[in-house]
Amino acid sequence: MQVVVKSTADAAAEYVHALLEKQLTTFPDSVLGLPTGGTPVSVYARLIKGLQPSWKRATTFNLDEYIGLGPEHPASYATYMRKHLFDHVDCPAEQRHIPNGLAADIEAEADRYENAIRRSGGIDFLLLGLGTNAHIGFNEPGSDFRSRTRRVQLTPSTLDANARYFRPGERLPSQAITMGIGTMLEARKIVVMATGQSKADAVGRMFQDPPTIDVPGSALQLARDVLVVLDAASASHL
Ligand code: PGA
Repeated sequence: MQVVVKSTADAAAEYVHALLEKQLTTFPDSVLGLPTGGTPVSVYARLIKGLQPSWKRATTFNLDEYIGLGPEHPASYATYMRKHLFDHVDCPAEQRHIPNGLAADIEAEADRYENAIRRSGGIDFLLLGLGTNAHIGFNEPGSDFRSRTRRVQLTPSTLDANARYFRPGERLPSQAITMGIGTMLEARKIVVMATGQSKADAVGRMFQDPPTIDVPGSALQLARDVLVVLDAASASHL
């Protein structure tokens, strides 16, 4: 894994933005894997500003969605993606993919998603965040490194970290559909972005040798082309 450490979170976002912009301008028909969460917000904000690369030929696959939330729910990742990216770029709706958290048959939905990724030719550029428990997507500690897109149970620490996106007192979904670690490892390029002191421990453990299923991010040591983009705070345990 290659590592780039920028002094601030803003500089890290600028760096990742430049990589994504270059990917889209050099390869306009790229298949992108896209994360949600706080970390990529400033990357998407840069991408939708000013002279943007065209997303007309791009295909996107989000990492995950909560089971039980529809695309109009304010805390759904479908809403997040419209707000931060898709309402502002020219990517056709039929080329944007997010797991359907309301599917009657979640297992069939996970298979459908996995097949759609395969049919697209596979992910060219996968952007990932890292949870404070080192999860990638919603692959929580204990996830098999060969796992495919599937139903997962969210851990208390993830639910705590994400409670801020829900109304006070609102019940959080306890399950999600996530792209699997095995699915992620097949991406041709992976960029992991982490910022802030709260991620320092997870970042440090991502590099632990040998990789362990207790630290989902450590699976990325097995991928062919991985770049980890950090700010100084998140890199402080390296
Ligand atoms: P965050 O989440 O960007 O909101 O910190 C990262 C993640 O949980 O993958």
